Amino acid sequence: MTLICVASPKGGVGKTMVAAHLAHEMRRAGAPNVVVIDLDPQNALRLHYGVPMSLRFGVVNCIEAGLPWDDAAIPSTSDVVVYPFGALTLPLQAEFDQAVRAQPGLIANEVLARANEPETIVIVDTPPGYSAAFSSLLPVADIVVTVMTPEASCISLIPDIKNGACYGVSQHEPASFVHRVIVNRFDPMNRISAMAMPQISRHFGNMILGTICRDEHVGEAFASQKLVQSYAPYCRATADLELVGSRLVQIIENLIERRGRL
Ligand SMILES: Nc1ncnc2c1ncn2[C@@H]1O[C@H](COP(=O)(O)OP(=O)(O)OP(=O)(O)O)[C@@H](O)[C@H]1O
Ligand SMILES: [Mg+2]
Repeated sequence: MTLICVASPKGGVGKTMVAAHLAHEMRRAGAPNVVVIDLDPQNALRLHYGVPMSLRFGVVNCIEAGLPWDDAAIPSTSDVVVYPFGALTLPLQAEFDQAVRAQPGLIANEVLARANEPETIVIVDTPPGYSAAFSSLLPVADIVVTVMTPEASCISLIPDIKNGACYGVSQHEPASFVHRVIVNRFDPMNRISAMAMPQISRHFGNMILGTICRDEHVGEAFASQKLVQSYAPYCRATADLELVGSRLVQIIENLIERRGRL
């Protein structure tokens, strides 16, 4: 029913962390079916959900072997269904990208099949920058959440994020998805963070879904293969994720209501 892509033109900003934790927040907010799909060959999303490192099977292996994606689904402790990317050697990653470029339905049909289930929220973690997998989902995504950090390298990307050019959105056609921005690893004690925030707020205005502070509990939770909400329920990052999650729920409810009126 709702397809959300978590993306960024920049690597290492916290996309995987955001995708994993927002999925948990959607489930906590009462969404009956929440699915989180990893489309990044780094295959790291599963680790937030305690999937053992040794378990390397995922959707890409289903595509390779002609198996249904359900074979890759892992039910998690927090009741979110996790689809790991799986393991691919580097040369095969390039082949995979080419195959998806030639046949966008390879990914999009499978993701949509899950997103079209009633009362289902699908959150997709995407690789940094351009990828054939993310491009194939853009025309069908309901919401794109761009993650950025309050650093000089991200600030320079503001115009391209704002108009969607970083994702190849044409400037002549309005984007078909709702676009929101999360500012991650905000640190009020850091000068660049403090200097960047007013600029980010000025440029993005109400496109900003929220801010998640830099919090060591996030890294510790990841190292323990737990979600930060269960590793440190009272930490700052958990509070920030809860707030961002509740705002995302509001957007989803508005979208569903609007669809109902059409
Ligand atoms: N709010 C935060 N506070 C502290 N550390 C964080 C925070 N968010 C993410 N991190 C850490 O930053 C690192 C990068 O996060 P993550 O892997 O989610 O980024 P990414 O955008 O998915 O990276 P990639 O582009 O490589 O896929 C991880 O070690 C993660 O634990
Ligand atoms: Mg990632």
